[in-house]
Amino acid sequence: MHKEPAMTDSSLAVVILAAGQGTRMKSALPKVLHPIAGRPMLGHVLAVAKELGASRTLVVTAPGAKAVADMVAANGAMSVVQDRQLGTGHAVSMAEAALAGFKGNVLVLFGDVPLLTAQTLQRLVSRVGTSADISALGFRPADPTGYGRMVTEGERLLRIVEHKDASESERGIGLCFAGMLAAPAPLLFDLLRDVDNRNAQGEYYLTDVFSGAAKCGLTAIAVEGPEEEMMGVNSREHLAEAEAMFQTRRRKEFMAAGVTLTAPSTVIFSADTVIEPDVTIGPYVVFGQGVRVRTGAEIKAFCHFEQADVGEGAIVGPYARLRPGAVLEAGVHVGNFVEVKNARLEKGAKANHLTYIGDARVGAGSNIGAGTITCNYDGVNKHHTDIGAGAFVGSDSVLVAPVSIGDGAYVAAGSVVTKNVEAGSLAIGRATQINKLGFAERIRARHKSAKKKES
Ligand code: UD1
Ligand code: MG
Repeated sequence: MHKEPAMTDSSLAVVILAAGQGTRMKSALPKVLHPIAGRPMLGHVLAVAKELGASRTLVVTAPGAKAVADMVAANGAMSVVQDRQLGTGHAVSMAEAALAGFKGNVLVLFGDVPLLTAQTLQRLVSRVGTSADISALGFRPADPTGYGRMVTEGERLLRIVEHKDASESERGIGLCFAGMLAAPAPLLFDLLRDVDNRNAQGEYYLTDVFSGAAKCGLTAIAVEGPEEEMMGVNSREHLAEAEAMFQTRRRKEFMAAGVTLTAPSTVIFSADTVIEPDVTIGPYVVFGQGVRVRTGAEIKAFCHFEQADVGEGAIVGPYARLRPGAVLEAGVHVGNFVEVKNARLEKGAKANHLTYIGDARVGAGSNIGAGTITCNYDGVNKHHTDIGAGAFVGSDSVLVAPVSIGDGAYVAAGSVVTKNVEAGSLAIGRATQINKLGFAERIRARHKSAKKKES
């Protein structure tokens, strides 16, 4: 068992609600596992919990949601199952047993609200125990329909009334509950015990803890945050909107950190993409997961990357594809229609046109001519191609792996290389050319007379 350090009152537990059905996604995949920038929505929420320094993170899941539970475990968090979805208040109370004895603050988040920043949540949490007993995150959406309305007096929150339970005048309130709240654990669970389900939806509302707090003379406050962070994902259309918002945010962050994007709106990042300062990225570039681009590199238009590492000052594209395990060391050039997979191109190596390099090493300073292909696959197994430093592989060569080409060797254009090439040698693996003098005229005459006979 993992042993927690002694708790202080400033410690934080995060409870993430993720037991909802998400029926509007019309998907076999649980809603919170749908990705934004390649990372499941729930992964974004878990990441923010980590960023806030949560000492415990609990995720409330539906029964049988194994894929969700696996992801939670892989992130070092804990799942608690809510057998029946009886409401958000009921969902939070599922975490009580797991938090027995915990005296710090609890922050409640939703698994389908993936764009919240640690900064905004910090503002919510920091008020608890200083200027409030319990705090709730609010925002002013363009269309408040469906949201809980926050009944306030100044900053003080008196109660939250759900849209379906609200009167006409309450529906006129613009300040809506985003769903997130912070309170000391013992207080929150005490307040939840008094929540019933006598309301329009017959649910145990989390929102009822605020009127409960007011009744006890406690101070509840509403903290306002930006609408774009509060967006909840309920449909594929929302998913696409959240994706677009995430991408816009990430592009701005990269530019602020010293990355040039010549056409920002056409570049797609993954949540884990690392781009160092002074990298230039041209239009229409897609970063799949696990990519790092080091300082000074230039990525030209129309490239696609996945689990790849682009070295300092490398030049890639246009139209290059780096697949998993592609490592380009400093100063490497990879040009148009070049695909690299599970291969290391060492310092200054070049493959500028129409090439496939898979399961290979290309030594420092080597040059791979246009149309060269490593034949790495025999239909059953993958084999390695090893090219030494300073080698020159002529255009349109086929390197049949397993095979090695030594340092400084030459491979003549159009060769099919099936045998290892020693360092410093020249390999020629092609049919010998024969020139037949005057044959062109004779062939042409023969074709012409055949055509005449036909007509
Ligand atoms: C909730 C709030 C509402 C707020 C809105 C913001 C309540 C009663 N209402 O309403 O004031 O404006 O969010 O989006 O809290 N969930 C469970 N178990 C359950 C029920 C829900 O885990 O039994 C999870 C859902 O998966 C979801 C979250 O809790 O992640 C919110 O549930 P949802 O049904 O969307 O609440 P709303 O009705 O939208
Ligand atoms: Mg909702």
